[in-house]
Amino acid sequence: MSKKLIIAIDGPAGSGKSTSAKLVAKRLNYLYIDTGAMYRAVTLFVLRNNLMGKTDEIIQLANKLDIVLNFIDGETNIKVNGEDVSKEIRSFEINSNVSEISAIEGVRKILVKKQQEMGKNGGVVMEGRDITTVVFPNADAKIFITAGIDERAERRAKEFSEKGTLIPIDKVKENLKNRDFIDSHREASPLTKTPDSIEIDTSNTTIDEQVDLILNEVKKIAFKKGIKI
Ligand code: DC
Repeated sequence: MSKKLIIAIDGPAGSGKSTSAKLVAKRLNYLYIDTGAMYRAVTLFVLRNNLMGKTDEIIQLANKLDIVLNFIDGETNIKVNGEDVSKEIRSFEINSNVSEISAIEGVRKILVKKQQEMGKNGGVVMEGRDITTVVFPNADAKIFITAGIDERAERRAKEFSEKGTLIPIDKVKENLKNRDFIDSHREASPLTKTPDSIEIDTSNTTIDEQVDLILNEVKKIAFKKGIKI
C-alpha cells in the first residue's frame, strides 16, 4: 500500500486556513481535521459548567469529554459525549473565550494526544495553531497561512452575517487581534511559523488560488518522496 502524506497547516484565525485545508483534503481524497473545533468544544462545556478561570476543574472536565470529529457534507461535524455541537461551537461567545481555554497546557496535552492518534496513519490535512510545531513536527508538508488583519476581519464578519449574526467589523477585528495576541504569546505551544514551513499569504488571493498554491507545494514534496497522490 502506498504511503499517504501528513499535511500540517497552521495560521491565525480568518487567514483562509480552514477553507483551503478542506478543499485540499477533498482534492486529495484525504481526511480533513479541524483541531480548532476541538478547543471550541471544550470551551462550550466549560461555559455550560461555569468553569471559566478554574484551571484544574477545566482539565478534569476535558479529560472526561468524548470528542468525536467527522467531516460530513463538506463541514466539520463534532460530537461531544454523543451530542452534536457543530453549530454551537461557532458562536461569538465561544470565539471570545476559546483562546483562554486553549492556553491551558493540560487541555492541550489531552487534545494533542487525540490529534496525533487521528493523523498517525497519514492521508490527513490537519489544521490549527500548533500542528507544524507540536502535533506533527515531522509532517511531510508544513504550511503556514497568513493574511492581513483587515482581510481576516472582513472574512469573519461575512461568515457571521451569513449565519444571521450581524457583528460590527470593529468588534470582529478587536476579537481577532485579541486572539492573535493570546494565541501567539501563550506559554504552551504558541502559534509560530517554523523555519521549514512554507508561508502562503492569502490577503489578495482567491480561494481557488490558495488551494492551487498549497497543492503545488504538496505535489512537489510528494514527488520528492516518491509518493503518488
Ligand atoms: O481555528 P479556530 O479559530 O477554530 O480555533 C479556535 C481557537 O482554538 C483559536 O483561538 C486557538 C485555538 N487553537 C489552538 O490553540 N490550537 C489548535 N491546534 C487549534 C486551535
